[in-house]
Amino acid sequence: MSDIDLAVIGGTGVYALARLEEVETHVVETRYGAPSGPVRVGRLGASRVAFLARHGEGHSVPPHLVNYRANLAALQHLGATRVLALNTVGGITERFGPRVLACPDQLIDYTWGRVSTLCEGEPWAVSGGEVLHVDFGEPYSRGLRQAVLAAARRAGVDLVEGGCYGATQGPRLETRAEIARLRRDGCDLVGMTGMPEAGLARELGLEYTCLAVVANWAAGAGPDPDEVITLQDVLDNVAAASAGLADLIGAV
Ligand code: HPA
Repeated sequence: MSDIDLAVIGGTGVYALARLEEVETHVVETRYGAPSGPVRVGRLGASRVAFLARHGEGHSVPPHLVNYRANLAALQHLGATRVLALNTVGGITERFGPRVLACPDQLIDYTWGRVSTLCEGEPWAVSGGEVLHVDFGEPYSRGLRQAVLAAARRAGVDLVEGGCYGATQGPRLETRAEIARLRRDGCDLVGMTGMPEAGLARELGLEYTCLAVVANWAAGAGPDPDEVITLQDVLDNVAAASAGLADLIGAV
């Protein structure tokens, strides 16, 4: 199997990779079950890139039911070692308004009840039943993060560097009190899919980093504290950020 230079996982509003050419489709079954959909592998400039839509190409899989293990294992099976995770998020603090692209460097996990480790279920993970306690002090891979930041500079794409991603359970959006608590905790961004994906990637030995697309001000965080967040606003803002996103992914 030929190597893949970069795998991209698309989030809400990103169901295909723009400018991917000579696309092959792979339907992969993994030891953890089926991923969210087919993996599309193609050429992006001079690189071989794989793409998987986290919620399925028709957005049918909610965040708490994504088979994160199968998604990552499918990409790894196809030869990927580096995963760029696109996460659609709400912005909490000043630098992270709608349509901003950001490369956070920390996260806090508020999710519950998700399969969050390879050390669960049958067959028990890698390494014959040994319990994994991976280091996670720096949850995103330093090398890949630096590559994304450098690519943004080369491509002239504005990218906010750093910030803390709070991963919530969803699929509902948060209350204003919940967002106020996340802010007190030090979160700059809020999304529903950042975990357990990042932790599982570490257990699988994949390089992994998050590229967050801010779709809205999180509840009560924007200039209009009474604003109601609609899916249409989310999709419109992700679409508006997509040109920069395609340039950036091409440069990575
Ligand atoms: N909260 C959680 N997840 C999100 C949001 C939000 O405000 N916007 C897009 N994904």
